[in-house]
Amino acid sequence: MTMKLTSVGLCVLCLSILGHSGSILAAERKTPTAPEDVLKMKNPVLLTPEVLQEATTIYKDKCIKCHGATGNGKGSGTKGMDVKPRDYTDKSVMEKIPDGQLFWITLNGSDPDTTEMEGYKKKLTEEQVWKLVHYIRSFAP
Ligand code: HEC
Repeated sequence: MTMKLTSVGLCVLCLSILGHSGSILAAERKTPTAPEDVLKMKNPVLLTPEVLQEATTIYKDKCIKCHGATGNGKGSGTKGMDVKPRDYTDKSVMEKIPDGQLFWITLNGSDPDTTEMEGYKKKLTEEQVWKLVHYIRSFAP
């Protein structure tokens, strides 16, 4: 009995090593939390069709390969990633993430040790990031 369980355990261990190409344990999500005052912020950019249009263009250029065309987080660039982007088409997921948090992570990136979500501080203006926040929200209207 003990022997059997041990072999099952070893098998599971092997599979998890194979499954995560090199890492022994799957990485946990360790998304940093924005500072209190940022979390409370409302999107200062007025939502207009032009704003969504501009955000779509930026998203296609810089975000789509990971976050996916529909925002479901299954873009082609996520293959083999331990910590994948969340599903932005899921309302129950999006309800729990304030605008300020979306803004902060886009600007500063997520945990660099476990995710490939870089910060866009140097590539985008804060206004452009707020526009992207509107766009991200539009995946789960
Ligand atoms: C190389 C792949 C990649 C690219 C490109 C990328 N992201 Fe991400 N993004 C991720 C991953 C992976 C996470 C999950 C990080 C986490 O959960 O801590 C993430 C998380 C986020 C979050 C955090 C919200 C949350 O809690 O899920 C936001 C907001 C975000 N991305 C927006 C963007 C925007 C906007 C762009 C384009 C300007 C972009 N990302 C480009 C991979 C990417």
